[in-house]
Amino acid sequence: MEKFKICGPSKLSGEVIIGGAKNATLPVLCSSILTSDTIEISNVPKLRDVSTMLSLLGEMGASFKFDPLSKICEINTDSLFSVEASYDLVKTMRASILVLGPLLARFGQAKVSLPGGCAIGQRPVDQHIKGLRQMGANIKIEDGYIIAETTGLKGTTIKNDIITVTGTENLMMAACLADGETLIENAAMEPEIVDLASCLRSMGAIIFGDGTNKISIHGSKKLSGCKHEIVFDRIEAGTYLCAVAACGGDVLLKNVNTLNMKMIIKKLQKFGGEIFDCGTSIRVKFSKRPESVSFDTAPFPGFPTDMQAQFMAVNAIARGTAKIRENIFENRFMHVQELQRLGAMIKVKASTATITGVENLRGANVMATDLRASAGLVIAAISANGNSSIDRIYHLDRGYEQMDRKLNSIGASVQRIKS
Ligand code: EPZ
Repeated sequence: MEKFKICGPSKLSGEVIIGGAKNATLPVLCSSILTSDTIEISNVPKLRDVSTMLSLLGEMGASFKFDPLSKICEINTDSLFSVEASYDLVKTMRASILVLGPLLARFGQAKVSLPGGCAIGQRPVDQHIKGLRQMGANIKIEDGYIIAETTGLKGTTIKNDIITVTGTENLMMAACLADGETLIENAAMEPEIVDLASCLRSMGAIIFGDGTNKISIHGSKKLSGCKHEIVFDRIEAGTYLCAVAACGGDVLLKNVNTLNMKMIIKKLQKFGGEIFDCGTSIRVKFSKRPESVSFDTAPFPGFPTDMQAQFMAVNAIARGTAKIRENIFENRFMHVQELQRLGAMIKVKASTATITGVENLRGANVMATDLRASAGLVIAAISANGNSSIDRIYHLDRGYEQMDRKLNSIGASVQRIKS
């Protein structure tokens, strides 16, 4: 296992290139199941979760090559010989559930382990199953597996009871090869869904309404290969913006699209820094202690739950008191007790955290519990007075490419060591 050794405090200045979005890459990789042709994907980030998804697809018989330098991944599923996603791999990455819809649509069958809960919540997949059943799939749950089969999916109208990102993605991919039109109502509107739809359209799919809460898909007989560039990672970008807000400094982020970050930028401005939004790049300058910022997490275009821990880290040293209400996941405050070890003054009552900002945090040994919690701990540790260590940073490597290298390039002192 590896850990980070961080010496703080550091001011941050320089430039950071933002990579491709993890949460767009994972569904796009699964969309390769929908065609026997090769799809070539560019701007693919080198992340643990991407390797896990490639391993899963490889275990099922897909062939792929990924060059982390050129960030290009070519994948072909013509040689697929299994429709099973085993528990061993699914338990390490819940997004493996994204093979369910494409396998069912292309091969008429799928056997996917139930993902089970994770640190941030139960995370059921009932909406995925409900929607596929409405499209004509016979689905049973046996020994912890989702066993699904169909003689051919039929287009229909599906109204999701709850807004679900991967649920919308699974149903959208399945509908691409269904007979007739599918309308997904109460669909998620995240930019990563729009990116998946753009890739599917390049494969010949007929999709309208992605990015709104009503998506219509006209099923095709077959889809072809394509070339697709992954959209930038708005959560990676937001994470670095929070690091500057907490530590102070002047940083330029490149390879972004600020249209996908409106709520993040709107809330960041309330911290009190200067933000120069140049569309495909964004510069942020903080020279004084930030002001506290309260927010509620919500589905896009609301405040993203994946930015909650990072904003909490900034609030920990801000002037004033902030209230954060987590409305998406039932247990996404695992970073609170770790931030308290760094000296943060935080009280949690049900789904609301109240953070009373302190002048400075103090270095301490802390432990990462999940992907975005670890990002919040890194931000807090860089701003803290003294040395910190963050254990179990494999959580971080799931969704951030070379975060230590990128942070050190703008003035932080982060050392990756074997623990
Ligand atoms: C996606 O997870 C993201 N992961 C998550 O990012 C993100 O936090 C989440 O969307 C919310 O934006 C990927 O895209 C790979 P949901 P997902 O289904 O799709 C409940 C990260 O840090 N729900 O939108 O699994 C669920 O319990 C990760 O990169 C049901 O009840 O989330 C949750 O409370 C973490 N039944 C809410 O809906 C279902 O069938 C939203 O979940 C599905 C979901």
